[in-house]
Formats: sequence, structure tokens, C-alpha cells
Amino acid sequence: MASHRRSGMSDAAAAALLVVAAALLMSTASGGVVPPRVPAVIVFGDSTMDTGNNNAIRTPLRADFPPYGRDMPGGPHPTGRFGNGRLPPDLISDALGLPPLVPAYLDPAYGMEDFARGVCFASAGTGIDNATADVLVSASTTIVSAYYITTCCSIYCGRGRILPSPAFTIGDPTVIPLWKEVEYYEDYQHRLRAHLGRSRAAAIIRGALHVVSIGTNDFLENYFLFATGRFAQFTVAEFEDFLVAGARVFLARIHGLGARRVTFAGLAAIGCLSLERTTNELRGRGGGCVEEYNDVAKSYNAKVKAMVRGLRDEFPKLRIAFVSVYESFLNIINDPAKYGLENVEEGCCATGKFEMGIMCNEDAPMTCDDADKFLFWDAFHPTEKVNRLMANHTLQVCYQEGVL
Ligand SMILES: *[C@@H]1O[C@H](CO)[C@@H](O)[C@H](O)[C@H]1NC(C)=O
Ligand SMILES: *[C@@H]1O[C@H](CO)[C@@H](O)[C@H](O)[C@H]1NC(C)=O
Repeated sequence: MASHRRSGMSDAAAAALLVVAAALLMSTASGGVVPPRVPAVIVFGDSTMDTGNNNAIRTPLRADFPPYGRDMPGGPHPTGRFGNGRLPPDLISDALGLPPLVPAYLDPAYGMEDFARGVCFASAGTGIDNATADVLVSASTTIVSAYYITTCCSIYCGRGRILPSPAFTIGDPTVIPLWKEVEYYEDYQHRLRAHLGRSRAAAIIRGALHVVSIGTNDFLENYFLFATGRFAQFTVAEFEDFLVAGARVFLARIHGLGARRVTFAGLAAIGCLSLERTTNELRGRGGGCVEEYNDVAKSYNAKVKAMVRGLRDEFPKLRIAFVSVYESFLNIINDPAKYGLENVEEGCCATGKFEMGIMCNEDAPMTCDDADKFLFWDAFHPTEKVNRLMANHTLQVCYQEGVL
């Protein structure tokens, strides 16, 4: 019998869009009427995901001072999020009918009551490679960072301002490596069982959406900075394979611990980050994107995507989606007006060319008035406006791929 239906694919896509729209509507309308679609959002990764864990450790990689958090709901509130407002996991949680912010596991202001509905283990500066989390304390970079921090601070932290506390000293331990995020996840599960009992805890883990974004620092702060010796040890292709293997071990591990719904983000067009454009400019190659880095992101993404497909075959109960951030990112850069953006090259904070973390502070000159016109908040991290697009895209992929 002939069918009037359009292809299954477009039906699925249309259904997905409806569900996303409904979820977004639900979160803006009367909260609490419709039960959340998942019991919790559980987050792993780097500064694109860190909702405040680095506040609790001694590291210069922090964002717990103004103007970070300038556009948080309810008014300015620096929380350690690397952005002017909320991050993708917060927006995903909100859209799914869960709380509007996903608390950091190391934040003493939250307890198991909160973590049962959402928890973040991510740490700014970390990577898939164990060595990435150590970059700032490795011998070669300690001297460079000491110089960088004292010199730039004399310019930017001026007017008698001391670094936001708790401060740090050079040689402090690392940010949280990915294996340690998994240890925290195990610790969390332990506490969740004590809090709610074995079967309710298991149901939460099974139903929770696990959101993962990591990998940028492995290339930009480790491999291409010659910070760890990986450059001498691996070709780019070998390093990609090494990271993909590490990501696979991580995903198999959290699956083994009960995770069933997972999204794993690919790399953005990392050669187009403001900081990389500036580096390109300093090298006398103009201020365009570093195409070499974008090519690496593309080939790495293809390998991650294949690895994720392999995991789906290997673990039938694992519903996992690869989220291709690269294309969304380039779409924004190629057609800013479509998204209401005016500047996709420089960050809003300070000059927008290199400032992030402690360099992006209240005394830094030139910070923009309306971050919604910018792709980047600081020289490395997107604005909330763009995080919304990324969160939306992630949810759409989740519905299309049956993760939600
Ligand atoms: C990273 O470090 C952890 C803890 O020391 C170790 O268990 C793991 O095997 C390391 N991973 C790699 C790929 O070296
Ligand atoms: C999210 O996606 C839906 C469906 O495509 C769209 O209607 C909505 O405007 C998007 N929201 C944002 C903030 O991009």
C-alpha cells in the first residue's frame, strides 16, 4: 500500500524538533507540572562544562570573580563558570525540566539532595590525556606562566588589586584529571545509594543524561604548546588515536558504572578561537582561523564519531550520541547575522584577543556592554547566547539518536 508519510528520517527529525520546542516551552512556562524527562543531568569535561569545581582547588584556571557570571539569572554572580552566564549543561538541565543550574560536585553549598538531580565533575583546563591536567605545573610552563601571570597582572590586576581568593601559587597541584572525575562519579554513586537506597540510586544513574565535552585542551594547551613532550612522542594522527582510545576507555568505564544515556561532544573549530586567531596574527599570518588546527579537529572528530558508533554496537544498552559541534560553530562564524551576532572573532571581555581567567577581570579595559552580540565571552569561551545554541543542538541530536 502506498504511503502518504514522508520519509521516516524527516518524521523523526520533525518529532525531535517538536519535543525540543515542548521541553523549552515547559521550562519557561509553569515549572514542576510536567515531570522532568530524565531524573538527572551528570556532567564530565573541561571549562566548557565546569560549573565551579575549580573554585575548590588551588589553580590559576578559575573564573570566580567579575565580570564572569555578569549575565547569570537573577543578576551578576561569578560562580566559576567560564562565561557571562550559564553553560550548556545548565541550559540542558533547564530544558529537560530539571534545575536551571547544575551544581559542581566540589561546591560545599550543595548536598546530595541537589546532586540527585544534577551534578558536575568537570574541571577547567583538563583533558583526555592525563598530561593535559598537569600542563600548568610541568617544568617548562611553570616559568612561562609565572612570567605571564606577574607581567600581565602588573598591567591588568593593577590598582592594588590582589588576585581573587582563594589564590594559588605556582607549582600547585593540577586541575582535575579525567580519571579523577570518574573517581568522583564513583564516590557520588556511593553517596547516592546511602542517600536514597540502592534501587532508586541505580534508577537515577540509568535514567540520567550524561553530558561530556572534553578534548580542546589536549590539542591547544598540551600538544601544540609543546607543553608536555607529546609533540615529540606522537605525530598528530597518533595523538588523535591516543585521545580517541582514552575517550573510549572513559566511556566504557562510565557505562560499566551504570551510565546508559550519554552525549559526547566533538571539537569545535578550535583554530577559530580568539586566542588562536591572535597567535596567528602574532606569527604574521593574519588574524584568520588557524586552518591547521581546524583540520586536526575535523579528522579527530571523524575518529571519535566512529569510536562512538563502535561503542553502540558493542554495548546494546548504551544509548550514546556524538554531538558534532564543529559544523554548528562554523555556521555561526560564516553567518553571524543569522544568529544576531556582530563579532565572531574577539571575546567580549577586555580586548578580546587573549584575556581569559585572571586576565579577564573588572579592571581590564574595554569589556563590551552586550555579550549577546558576541560569539566569544573571553578569548577562549563562548557567550551564553552561543551556549544556548549548543545546548539546543545537543538536545536535538539526543532526540534524533534516541538518547532521550
Ligand atoms: C592516567 O592516570 C591514571 C591514574 O594514575 C591511570 O590509572 C591511567 O592508566 C592513566 N591513563 C593513561 C592513558 O596513561
Ligand atoms: C532551539 O531549537 C528549536 C527547534 O529548532 C527552536 O525553535 C528554538 O528557537 C531554538 N532555541 C534556541 C535558543 O536556539
